[in-house]
Amino acid sequence: MSEESAPYGSGPATTPPPTKRVRTHHLREMKQRGERFAMLTSYDMYTAEVFDEAGIEVLLVGDSASNNVLGNTTSLPVTVDQLLPLTLAVARSVRRALVVGDLPFGSYQRSPEQAYDTAVRFMKEGGAHAVKLEGGAEMAPQIELLSRGGVPVMAHIGFTPQSEHALGGYRVQGRGETAERVLADARAVEAAGAFAVVMEMVPGDVAAQVTEQLTIPTIGIGAGPHCDAQVLVWQDAFGLRAGRMPRFVKQYADVRGVLLEGARAYAAEVRDQSFPDEARTF
Ligand code: KIV
Repeated sequence: MSEESAPYGSGPATTPPPTKRVRTHHLREMKQRGERFAMLTSYDMYTAEVFDEAGIEVLLVGDSASNNVLGNTTSLPVTVDQLLPLTLAVARSVRRALVVGDLPFGSYQRSPEQAYDTAVRFMKEGGAHAVKLEGGAEMAPQIELLSRGGVPVMAHIGFTPQSEHALGGYRVQGRGETAERVLADARAVEAAGAFAVVMEMVPGDVAAQVTEQLTIPTIGIGAGPHCDAQVLVWQDAFGLRAGRMPRFVKQYADVRGVLLEGARAYAAEVRDQSFPDEARTF
């Protein structure tokens, strides 16, 4: 370790000049101008720094941390207390991106008051700039109270993973006659005050209709190319996760391959005693 470098990684390497933060009104203005924006999940300091530097407008500290960070098989078990430190890490590490904290299963469905109390924790203790919650028309009272109380809300309709068991598994929502339900949900969350809406696993033509009808931005995941923005879970997008991917995922990098190669090279050098060498010994 040189005199200048901090041990193990302790904070940003450089201090770049101040940047204008992404606010919810900027996203609405982008929609009005026909400009797309990008959202990714992030659950830690370094991915937050990298995605922010790459110009990703919105970072979601998703409840998908449950099955992408904490070792669960679904998003259901993750708790508010588990998500708050991850949210704080991301919020502390961005200079520009809007940071959205995802309200986990059971932390907002019971009542608007429960939702408000949880959302306030995400903003006070997690440093989130906004929160996301799953549900359409039935969540309008929650969205109304939060919006009136100073909490920007991103809604999430179509396939909502927290309701996996109620919906009968991972299935596209809004096919055929059920398209009207997706449209009604979208209108309801907009009317209740949501600043944006995620649409998950919705047919492309239905998502296009919703995007056309709403003034707030739509953010698609498995909802085709006509949404105002797109979101992916970063471990899917950059190839950290192994195994079968949903059809809507595109893999832009092979992080798992890079880590595997690096870890094997390191282990080999430890075993053959070529690491640490003279230059790395005090
Ligand atoms: O938790 C999450 O990662 C999400 C996205 C898939 C939208 O809700």
